[in-house]
Amino acid sequence: MKINLSSKSFKKIKSDIEIILVNDLEEAKDKELLENLDFKATDEACVLLAESGKIYVGYEEENYDSLAIAIATAVKKFKTTKYKTAKVNLTQIEDNLKAIVEGTLLASYSFKKYKSEDTAKKKQELILVVSEETAVLEKIVADSTIISKAVNKARDMVNTTPADFYPEVMAEVAKDIAEDASIECKVHGEKFLDRNHMHSMLSVGRASIHESQLIHLSYKPKNAKKKIVLVGKGLTYDSGGLSLKPADFMVTMKSDKSGGCAVLATLWAIAKLGLPYEVHGIVGAVENMIGGDAYKPDDVLTAKNGKTIEVRNTDAEGRLVLADCLCYAQDEIDDIDYIFDYATLTGACVVGVGQYTSGIMGNNEILKRNAVLAALKSGEYATTLDFNRYLRKTIKSEIADVCNIANTRYGGAITAGLFLDNFIYEENKDKWIHFDIAGPAFVESAWGYNPHGGSGAGVRMTVEFIKSLDKK
Ligand code: BES
Ligand code: ZN
Ligand code: ZN
Repeated sequence: MKINLSSKSFKKIKSDIEIILVNDLEEAKDKELLENLDFKATDEACVLLAESGKIYVGYEEENYDSLAIAIATAVKKFKTTKYKTAKVNLTQIEDNLKAIVEGTLLASYSFKKYKSEDTAKKKQELILVVSEETAVLEKIVADSTIISKAVNKARDMVNTTPADFYPEVMAEVAKDIAEDASIECKVHGEKFLDRNHMHSMLSVGRASIHESQLIHLSYKPKNAKKKIVLVGKGLTYDSGGLSLKPADFMVTMKSDKSGGCAVLATLWAIAKLGLPYEVHGIVGAVENMIGGDAYKPDDVLTAKNGKTIEVRNTDAEGRLVLADCLCYAQDEIDDIDYIFDYATLTGACVVGVGQYTSGIMGNNEILKRNAVLAALKSGEYATTLDFNRYLRKTIKSEIADVCNIANTRYGGAITAGLFLDNFIYEENKDKWIHFDIAGPAFVESAWGYNPHGGSGAGVRMTVEFIKSLDKK
């Protein structure tokens, strides 16, 4: 969908169809007709009046969430028609232009790579009508377009199947992203992991025919305000390993690379937006498979920081990959201001907070609170999950420094976060946030502006969070 900003008189703008956002039915022009159609000004309510060329869509509140969902609902309807152009009057809700642009571009996304039918995209255009075409509004459109493109890039990667997207492919894609955004990209294979004592990550990928890759992107603008490191879980497939997943739980595990995809796409967005922060993106791209060479429950692994890990379940592999990636980040990059990790880490997080929401964990209460606020402002849902001393004890091991699973069924998202805390160095404890995106990263049944498949969770909230960091 093409987006155009215009400040011409609304009536004079030619278009095939008009989208009308309705908050109060009393004020709607076609009130009677709409009432007869039992249309209500509620979120996701939508009617197409073909004869008069109008799409009416309801919204309940004047905020990002409600308006992004409203325009997405209208855009989805528009897409079912053969009309080429639509216009929408935004003069009363110009403060929410970001929501309108992102709602439009995120709802227009479709993934057709594996469809054999004609995949030529319809060329449709949406004209956003504002009172004045100011530089501020134009910048909002430009920036929101970059952010939406980044989300859609993450979705494309997540949706690509494990046969076409394995660690070496992820590394190539990272190089392409880096080239397009004019940022640095280093890729390290298994020899490097071995030489650098990253045997926790290395063990997870051992049974795979694909070589594990450590990807490191860096964006270093002049006069950067802060130095931020983003670390992503890039499990291009998670079969569970020898602690094999049941068949029904293995389906969708191509999405276990979502954290890594979010990191790559966020780096692209930050560079394209030209934000004044030095940002590093580190992704552990690994495939968790079975085979004679597979790592096993009972193994004891040594991570890069020298800590030993008792493996009791090979399906708790993401934390093993992240452990070494977090150490690598802290060893390689000096004077870090913030370190954030992104991972589809636990089913427990989905059970606990639902499939729409990310879990936010860490040791710094204020930083966690600010992460939640940034997420909500960006249009993503997130909530904090608190650590405590008793849950910390549940990952103690009899024979190693720490165990990769807890001795309790409860609090699985938090005990996974507490495992990661073992690999955050003392000086960085307060600078770290762990985002468990297992719920929202992959959409089984479409919601809002998210079609089935990868959602690009993490990208919008991280851009917003980074932008807020100099104020703190
Ligand atoms: N990738 C999964 C977590 C996951 C589950 C992501 C569902 C998205 C949807 C992770 O590697 C995993 O398998 N975790 C286990 C941990 C358990 C063995 C302690 C889980 O959540 O069951
Ligand atoms: Zn797993
Ligand atoms: Zn996993």
